[in-house]
Amino acid sequence: MNLVRTRDYEEMTGRAADMIFEQVNRKPDSVLGLATGSTPIGVYEKLTDWCQEGTLDFSKVRTVNLDEYAGLSKEHPQSYCRFMHEHLFDHINIDPENVHIPDGLAEEDVECARYDRLIQSLGGIDLQLLGLGHDGHIGFNEPADAFPLGTHRVALSARTIQANKRFFEDESQVPRFAYTMGIRDIFQAKRVLMIVSGRDKAEILKEAFQGPVTPRVPASILQFHKDFTLIADEEALALF
Ligand code: GLP
Repeated sequence: MNLVRTRDYEEMTGRAADMIFEQVNRKPDSVLGLATGSTPIGVYEKLTDWCQEGTLDFSKVRTVNLDEYAGLSKEHPQSYCRFMHEHLFDHINIDPENVHIPDGLAEEDVECARYDRLIQSLGGIDLQLLGLGHDGHIGFNEPADAFPLGTHRVALSARTIQANKRFFEDESQVPRFAYTMGIRDIFQAKRVLMIVSGRDKAEILKEAFQGPVTPRVPASILQFHKDFTLIADEEALALF
């Protein structure tokens, strides 16, 4: 694991955006695995700025998002599809045909198989960006008895529902299920980049990367990845 310790969120964001910049410049048709949540918002702002200045070109880039709430349409204000358009896709020169996000309204078996085939047909993911859930989830791979392999429908944990209610009117509005890429899909990415910020992630960050590899802490599997970079700020690394 390649650990980059940063002073704060701002520096973490800059380092992560630099890695994506370098990836896209080196391989203009890169397949980027993208994440939602509050943590990557700063990275998306930087990528947007560079694209608008003309220093970064997304015209050939392909993207696959990690996850989507089951039962929400693409247009729903809290869907991850809307999130991605608001924070990135609507502001950069990406071809809409090259943007891929699980369809929250599609039928489970069909959608999961389609998404796995899609990732394969793109030749896999070149660089996967990840945040970290408070229960150790990546994408929406929640703590479980075994590592789920491919795209699947998952019941969100009470902790995740609690953490994500801030985006909804109240807790009852938070979807109880989601579609997520599986651990195999994520683990097969050529490079994995995780960004973590804030004191509230310190306990789980330590468990994930200084504890045993276990499906009870899904992110811990990344200890075994051959090209894994963790960029985290001082607060998140308080217990390291
Ligand atoms: C969400 C997403 C994850 C994200 C995580 C952390 O539930 N499914 O992909 O990494 O929660 O979010 P945040 O960055 O807001 O803490």
